Amino acid sequence: MKRMLSGIKPSGQLTLGNYIGALREFVKYQEDYEMIVFIANLHTLTVYQDPKELSKNLKDTIALYLACGLDPKRSTIFMQSDVMAHAQLGFILSCNTYMGELNRMTQYKDKLSKGEESMTSGFYVYPTLMAADILIYDPDFVPVGEDQKQHVELTRDVAIRFNNRYGESFKIPTPLIPKVGSRIMSLSDPTKKMSKSDEADKGCIYLLDKPEVARKKIMSAVTDLVGVVQFDPINQAGISNLLTIHSALSKVSIPDLVKQFEGQGYGNFKKAVADEVVKLLSDLQSKYEVILSQHILEEVLESGAKKARIMADAKLKLVEQKIGLTIDQ
Ligand code: TYM
Repeated sequence: MKRMLSGIKPSGQLTLGNYIGALREFVKYQEDYEMIVFIANLHTLTVYQDPKELSKNLKDTIALYLACGLDPKRSTIFMQSDVMAHAQLGFILSCNTYMGELNRMTQYKDKLSKGEESMTSGFYVYPTLMAADILIYDPDFVPVGEDQKQHVELTRDVAIRFNNRYGESFKIPTPLIPKVGSRIMSLSDPTKKMSKSDEADKGCIYLLDKPEVARKKIMSAVTDLVGVVQFDPINQAGISNLLTIHSALSKVSIPDLVKQFEGQGYGNFKKAVADEVVKLLSDLQSKYEVILSQHILEEVLESGAKKARIMADAKLKLVEQKIGLTIDQ
């Protein structure tokens, strides 16, 4: 069975973008792959987090993983910081990654161009920790949204370099990007990605938004003056984004949706998109409440971490031997 690995960084509440671009893919894939899914809590620290809020976000994230259908019996689900080998391999890989490579990372360049002075060194080397998260489990595939593709490509480069230097050590993973919904855009500015760190709250739907709040956000989503429901991401970015959201949730193809809404105004179309989103959130949130009431989160994380540690520790040991960190050469 081929292996897949992915993670989400809970630096805020999970969004509809996380669901469409990543979570629902994980759930789909757990049927046919050995799935490893973790909560990238160390990654959140690259930007200051209020400790109480972070802790709550971690709890919500694991509950939402389960509410979305990730099954701890099929998938290995754990918290990144519970498997210490990630951070250890992260340092080793940062010593096999050039600053020139990190300077080319889009997220770093974006922050730099905004003149952010408070960028931490952790943020700068974050892609090497992500490389460690991946390579330590030898996955075949890494399902991610479009924005993380560059990081998986860097991971491949680092793995190839390492294998060339020290001999075969890591499998070279392939990023897997969903065909529909790999980049859900902000509702208030459809030229920007929908993001949990977005200050403009009305552009972002959170999985724990009250359904009626989410409906309002969809109904007030920015559109255009063309007045025709069609897929044209350049000239009709807002409508194209709503088509993508509808299609991802209803599983009706975008061309079929365009036919369905031919000759109708944006109001009707938005209402249909809102109905899909409300259906999803209501369903997820009622499952989320049940999961919280069952008090199973710690048990799920503990048993996932146990399984993950066995794999990760073995790989770290091999790497340490390869690079000469041990005396048993
Ligand atoms: P993060 O937490 O920013 O996002 C988690 C996943 O959600 C996807 N995603 C989106 N997809 C579509 N539209 C959007 N608007 C949208 N926003 C987010 C992301 O592409 C991602 O797949 N560095 C990672 C976490 C991570 C990781 C890993 C992922 C750490 N280690 C190892 C895979 C493998 C991150 O910050 O993702």
